[in-house]
Formats: sequence, structure tokens, C-alpha cells
Amino acid sequence: MTEYKIALLGFGGVNRALAQLVAEKNELWAEELGFTLKIVGVSDIFLGSVIGKDGLDPKKLVAVPAAKGAFSALENGSAEPANETVIRFSGADIVAEATFTNPVDGEPATTFCRWALEKGISVVTTNKGPVALHAAALKKLATSTGAAFEFEGAVMSGTPVIRMAQETLAGSEITGFKGILNGTSNFILSSMQAGLDFSNALAKAQDLGYAEADPTADVEGHDVRLKVVILANELLGAKLTPNDVCCEGISKITAEDIQSAARADSRWKLIGSAQRTPSGTVTASVSPQLLPNTDALAGVSGATNAVSFETNLLGPVTVVGAGAGRIETAYALLSDIISIHKNKIKQAI
Ligand code: HSE
Repeated sequence: MTEYKIALLGFGGVNRALAQLVAEKNELWAEELGFTLKIVGVSDIFLGSVIGKDGLDPKKLVAVPAAKGAFSALENGSAEPANETVIRFSGADIVAEATFTNPVDGEPATTFCRWALEKGISVVTTNKGPVALHAAALKKLATSTGAAFEFEGAVMSGTPVIRMAQETLAGSEITGFKGILNGTSNFILSSMQAGLDFSNALAKAQDLGYAEADPTADVEGHDVRLKVVILANELLGAKLTPNDVCCEGISKITAEDIQSAARADSRWKLIGSAQRTPSGTVTASVSPQLLPNTDALAGVSGATNAVSFETNLLGPVTVVGAGAGRIETAYALLSDIISIHKNKIKQAI
């Protein structure tokens, strides 16, 4: 039975949920997936760090309170984060990177990815910063050391979008996409439609763990912009940076706008989209759009996300599913590890 040793960077909602899944599902994974996971190190800017080369008890990790320096109460634990030590010296085969997203330079997460990949340690990440800003360099580095760099959870949490488009829709000639790519803003728009005001709806989205650490990124469209860059670069072969994408969020949409849209059988949605033009260039944008209720995306409510791919051979193909959430995003990390495992088996044949 293959056992992957994993190190967790960031122990907020996502990696805590992954630890919970490890605690509950290792036996099932052994049977269904052919591997188990052992957590050998964790580092978190708030909780501190802990290394256990023989394996840390995932149940004990999950029970650690969200209090500053709380890892110091564990055997071998420290109140200080130790990202570099955990990456380089915990003996991990795979680093699960789920620290906060920095949309400006992708740091420090990009450096964490680099430290791991340089050592031939694979990285699975849900972090949009390193992927939107540095995917090409990180993929090249991974190839040079024989490691994998996987990031399904950077867009639509565990709902298969990137890998599905690249693998299952290979050859379908994707020419563009449009989608609802931010759970928080869609939750706010849906809640406003049900009569809640903007700030109460946002507070609820924060409680449910959908919103970014700084929810401005959710409501002003910056989060969607990073996801549009990732999808356009990965699926349309673009080389976009966030500055190439015009971006407007939902903060100017009023309760009256929502009600008058409803009277006209339509709904406001925050749409991220990109198209490849006949000349081969790719244009992309993020903006609130008034969609008629007959549009497939108009019916997508709450924190649910959806993306419609335009393909030459199949027409539009739409994927609807979770776009945020702790377990949902932790599942993305699992799906990346499954992909690494399958590739490893293929290489061994
Ligand atoms: N804050 C994001 C959202 C989380 O609300 O969709 C996933 O990127």
C-alpha cells in the first residue's frame, strides 16, 4: 500500500478539513484509491508549527483550538511558524499549500512552493496567487526536479474544472468560457434577492467560510480576476496577468437593482469570462451582468459556482458545483494527490 507523507502549510479551514478527512477516510482511501496519507508536519502563521516524521495524529491536529501559538501544546510543537523547516525537513513527499492568497506578488506562498519543488517534493495548492502569477515558472521548476505542481482547488474548489477541461475535454477545442467563479459574491447577490442587506449577507458568507481573509477581493471581483487568469492561461494558452483583465465587482449593485431585475425576469450575476479571438489573442473580463432567467448561469444561486466552456466540437459544456467551503476545497487537494498517484503508477508501468 502506498503511503504519501504530507506537510500542511496553513492550517485554517482548508488544511484542517484535509486533516479531518485523513482522520476519517484513510481506510476508505486505501481500499478505493490505493493509498493512504500520513501528516508529517504542519506550519501556520497563527498557530505555530509541529513536525512528527512518524506521523502526527490527525484527530489531535483537528482538535487544536484556533488560538495564537496553539501548536506549542502538542508534542514537539512550537508557537512559531516554520514553513521552511516543515517543507525541507519533515520528510514530506507532498506539500499541501493552503496559506492566504496574496494577489499582488503571490508571496510568501510562491516561495513555499519553490522550496518544495526545488527539492523534488510535489506541491498541491488551493492558492490562487502562485498559480495566477507564477504558474509557468513553477511548472517548469517541477518538471526539472521530477515533482508535480497541481492546483485544481485554485478555481471552483473541488469541483473539477481545470483537470476536466484539460483531460476530459481534450480535443474539443475550447474557445472561451464564462462563469460564476466567486461563491461569496453569488451568495450575497442571491441573499439580497431574498431580502437580506449587503453587509448581513457578507457576514453570513464569512461565517460559512466562503469569503477571503479580505472580503474586498470577493466583492470587488479581484478573486474572480485571478481565476479568469488561471483558466485563460491553462485552458486557452493565454499569457495573461491580472492587469490584462478589466475588473468590476458587485459593490455598486443596490437592492433596487436586484428588485428591478427580478421584475424583468432577470438576475445580476458577477461573470468572469475569456475568449480566444480568431487572430489567437485572448481577451478577458470580470463584471456584473444582467442575465435573463433563461440563461443557465442565472439559475445558479447561493455559494454555488458554474462555468460554461465554449467548445467547437461539443458546443457549450457547463459544470456547476461548489466554489468554496472547507471540505469542498480540501477535496481539491485530495483530487490533486489522486492525480499525482495515478501518474506515478503510469510511470512505473
Ligand atoms: N472567496 C472565494 C469565494 C473562495 O467566495 O468563492 C474560493 O476561491
